[in-house]
Amino acid sequence: MESKPLNGKIALVTGGSRGIGRAISLKLADMGATVCINFLKSRDSAEDTLQKVHEKSSESILIRGNVGNRKNIEKIFKTIEEKFGKLDLFISNAALGVFADVKDVDEKAWNLAMDVNAKSLLYGAQKAADLMTDGGKIIALTSMGTTRYVPGYASIATSKAAIETLVKYIAIEYNSMGITCNAVSGGFVETDSLKAFPDYEDIYREAIRRTPSEKIASPDDIAGVVSLLCLPESGWITGQIIVADGGFTLI
Ligand SMILES: NC(=O)c1ccc[n+]([C@@H]2O[C@H](COP(=O)([O-])OP(=O)(O)OC[C@H]3O[C@@H](n4cnc5c(N)ncnc54)[C@H](OP(=O)(O)O)[C@@H]3O)[C@@H](O)[C@H]2O)c1
Repeated sequence: MESKPLNGKIALVTGGSRGIGRAISLKLADMGATVCINFLKSRDSAEDTLQKVHEKSSESILIRGNVGNRKNIEKIFKTIEEKFGKLDLFISNAALGVFADVKDVDEKAWNLAMDVNAKSLLYGAQKAADLMTDGGKIIALTSMGTTRYVPGYASIATSKAAIETLVKYIAIEYNSMGITCNAVSGGFVETDSLKAFPDYEDIYREAIRRTPSEKIASPDDIAGVVSLLCLPESGWITGQIIVADGGFTLI
């Protein structure tokens, strides 16, 4: 068998069926990992991603479950424990939210963003650590909306800010278990969720104008950075927010 850097590693990618998560699932499989692809609503996309992943990693599986619900998170990890007995890489990628200005953010929208985006990292990291008996890597997806104003993004950005802080606490408290924890912060990335922004056309134009290479990021651009953090050579990076925006926020 061809030797690959992530041979023997078990990875969980939440929201691993579409967009950036799909690109991460494919990349990790290509690098030799067995991937547990979590999804919630879009079974067809999940099946399609699994089919592609199987071309590289035949043991990979789908796990349906809502990461915005603690009981569901526990079930997801139970499935991994029963099937593989361990976890090496936990990629907390799934996200949801409602676009609204501050004055219109209601409790439901606030709780949705916090539950699916931020609490999923907290509860997921707790369960992941139990299965990372030989060390591991936790990587969360965040966005430049934590430091830059993006219209309508208040509740989602705040949940991402929680992620960025939590990453540092996880990094320190799980360090003695050989677990590193980092976040990858993307600029605008061409996915379905970007198309859902109310002012998508303006965002798209502006992203291209302000990015030195005059292009918008693809999911592969972000998956590549996540995959670097999965390598054993990245072991000295922990508690960091790695900005992967092609230089957008410099201009
Ligand atoms: N796109 C961007 O411009 C951008 C920029 C910076 C950071 N990010 C971050 O990158 C990550 C991925 O974004 P994306 O644009 O690829 O998103 P996306 O295209 O909307 O895909 C979201 C994925 O998450 C899953 N998902 C949503 N809610 C879930 C839940 N409650 N439980 C389990 N799975 C759930 C979806 O599965 P189903 O369809 O089956 O529900 C889907 O696989 C997010 O954390 C996002 O904030 C995105």
